[in-house]
Amino acid sequence: MNSILVTGGTGYIGSHTVVAFQQAGFDVIVLDDLSNSSEQVLDRIERITGTRPRFYLGSIANQALLNSVFASHPIDTVIHFAGFKAVGESVQHPLRYYQNNVAGSMVLFDAMQKAGSKKLVFSSSATVYGDPGVIAYTEDLPLRPVNPYGQSKRMVEDIARDLQASDSDWSVALLRYFNPVGAHPSGLIGEDPRGIPNNLMPYIAKVAVGELSELNVFGDDYTTPDGTGVRDYIHVQDLARGHLDACRYLNEHKGCTAFNLGTGRGYSVMEAVDAFRKASGQPIPVRISPRRAGDLPEYYAVPDFTRKELGWKAELNLDDMVRDHWNWQKNNPKGYDS
Ligand code: WQD
Repeated sequence: MNSILVTGGTGYIGSHTVVAFQQAGFDVIVLDDLSNSSEQVLDRIERITGTRPRFYLGSIANQALLNSVFASHPIDTVIHFAGFKAVGESVQHPLRYYQNNVAGSMVLFDAMQKAGSKKLVFSSSATVYGDPGVIAYTEDLPLRPVNPYGQSKRMVEDIARDLQASDSDWSVALLRYFNPVGAHPSGLIGEDPRGIPNNLMPYIAKVAVGELSELNVFGDDYTTPDGTGVRDYIHVQDLARGHLDACRYLNEHKGCTAFNLGTGRGYSVMEAVDAFRKASGQPIPVRISPRRAGDLPEYYAVPDFTRKELGWKAELNLDDMVRDHWNWQKNNPKGYDS
């Protein structure tokens, strides 16, 4: 049976996608350098699906390792998550981001080309849009990323697009995630950022479980209904299913196509806080703080193209997201090191 190679498969979205593919009957191989995740995730995946994915420890930049993986397994499709993803860190260390995310992806794509494995699902991000001047994002908007992380995602999209243009045997899906949150309903896998979380939902979860004392709300004077920032949060389970639909799409379509993966509905910071308070029964103290540099007031996905082309739409709402995020954090107060 042909296999699916998932790079970054022990990460947050990667691990949920591995579970979805195994439960859909695929044979999954994981390659990960564990720079931002734990090998325990493989044990948790096995507890959920009964199958421990084959695992290769290493970087996508390791050409010899990649060549041996492709020589040892018939890889049908590559789901490419591996990459650094902290916006602030990318501003401090741009070279590290370009080296890992862009140069690393080029080594991966070269190994795929040589092995004749030409179906790619790439983990991109709404950050590639930058500030397009509208709040409802369609895939045809100009891409003007404003930080090295977003730039690196746009560069890899461009490389994949040029590769497909040079060789029509390639089929590429570029999945632009909005704000992934939530966890697998088992509570066995979830988001486990190193150190203090940059993102809203894991920060709220750490306050709820008592690891952090209060949430700083970065500005309540935006032109939004309650003054706090509005984002399109999407359940990681919906996101994982989107990768399955993209993989099936590549079996019938050549070309290189970008898809927004979002719900099409935005929620404010305080709506997220209130939903988390309801789900967890915890007070979640907040402190109104200055705006965070680079933050936009509001944006969300227009999911129509993805629904028409992939036949995918998000099914889970904010209450589902915070319920499952809390269930994961409550059972794993210190993440995988609990
Ligand atoms: C959401 C809202 C903040 C933290 C980033 C990346 C994006 C993607 C998702 C990788 C904003 C507010 C946050 C806090 C707060 N990551 N906030 N207090 O900035 O929309 O997107 O993560 O692909 O690429 O850009 O997500 O969760 O950081 O912020 O008030 O402690 O919550 O101001 O309005 P963001 P976020």
